[in-house]
Amino acid sequence: MAGMTDTAFRRLVKRQGGCGLVVTEMVSAEGLVRGIDRTLEYTEYTQEERPIAIQIFGGDPEKMAAAAQIVEGMGADIVDVNMGCPVPKIAKHNAGCSLMREPAHAASVIAAMSKAVKIPVTVKMRAGWNDDERTAPALARMVEDAGAAAIAVHGRTAAQSYSGSADWDLVASIAGALTIPVFGSGDCIEASQIIDKLHAGVEGVLVGRGVLRNPWILAQAADIAAGRQPREITLEDRGRFLIDYIDLLREERVRPSHQPPATSHASSANSHDRWVINKLRALGSWYTKGLDNGSHLRTAINRADSIAALRETITDFFFAGARVFSQ
Ligand SMILES: Cc1cc2nc3c(=O)[nH]c(=O)nc-3n(C[C@H](O)[C@H](O)[C@H](O)COP(=O)(O)O)c2cc1C
Repeated sequence: MAGMTDTAFRRLVKRQGGCGLVVTEMVSAEGLVRGIDRTLEYTEYTQEERPIAIQIFGGDPEKMAAAAQIVEGMGADIVDVNMGCPVPKIAKHNAGCSLMREPAHAASVIAAMSKAVKIPVTVKMRAGWNDDERTAPALARMVEDAGAAAIAVHGRTAAQSYSGSADWDLVASIAGALTIPVFGSGDCIEASQIIDKLHAGVEGVLVGRGVLRNPWILAQAADIAAGRQPREITLEDRGRFLIDYIDLLREERVRPSHQPPATSHASSANSHDRWVINKLRALGSWYTKGLDNGSHLRTAINRADSIAALRETITDFFFAGARVFSQ
C-alpha cells in the first residue's frame, strides 16, 4: 500500500505469522527505467520478506517490459502490475485503473512483460472503471491469455474509490472462469472475514487496511484456519509493535529523499527523525481505529514532535506506566 507498507512494516507483519506474500508499495515504471532514487528506494526489501512481489505502474508496454527486467534483476520473486489505482495523478497517465478502460492495450502491456522476464507477471485490478465499465471479467481473461501468472481483484470500481462494499460475487465468478490463480481483495477487517472469503473459491485473500489496523490479522486468520482460537493481542503487543517499527525505521539509512520540506518545527527533529515521525503519523491514523481512546492516541501521536516524545506517547498509552527504553 502506497505510503504505508515499507520494508520495515512488511517485516514486522511477516514476523507475526500467517503472511504468505508481501507486495511493495507501487512504484513507477518510468522512475525505475530512469533510475530515480526515490523510486528505487520504494523497491527495497530484505530476504526475510520473501516471497516478495514488486508492484509497478505504467502504461507503455516497452517501458513496462524494461521495468519488469529491472525488477527481475533486483531479485524479486514476482512483478505485479497495478491496474487498480484510481488516483487521477496515476490514472491520467494511462496507468493504474485507467488501463482497465482499454483491455486490449492492458493485455499488450502484460504480453510485453511476460516475454521480457522469467519471473511471474501478475496483475492487480479493480471491478472496472465505473458501473458502466465493469471490465474485470473480460480483462481478466485477456491478461490470462497474454501470460499473467495470477491476478488479484479488488471488487470495487475506480469511481467507487472506497465507498460501498467490495463485490466478492464478482471476484468469485472471475475465479471460477479462469485457470490461473485469482486472489480477492476488499473489506477484510476481521480475521474471520478472511476465512469466509477463502471459502468463496479464491486462491487467496489480499488484506490491505485490515493489516494497518491490526498487523496480527493474518496470524489470527491462520489460527482460525488451523482450528485454533485466534491469538489474543494485548495492549503491550500493540505498543511493542509501534516501538519496533520506530526502531526499524531508524535503522534505515538516511537518504536525501527523506529530507522533509522546511517546517517551523525543523529544529526539533533531524530530517531522518522527521521522516520516521511522519511514518508513525501515517500508520497512527489507521492503527488507532477501533481502539478504546484511539482518537486520543491519534491526536497525541500527531502532536509528538520528536522521537522521544513519540516513544513517551506510545509508552504512556500502551504500557500504563512501564517505561520502554530503546537506543
Ligand atoms: C493507503 C492505501 C494505499 C494503497 N496502495 C495500493 C497500492 O500501492 N497498490 C495496490 O495494488 N493497491 C493499493 N491499495 C489498495 C489495497 O491493496 C486494497 O486492494 C484495497 O484497500 C481494498 O482492500 P482492503 O479493504 O483490505 O483495504 C491501497 C489502499 C490503501 C488504503
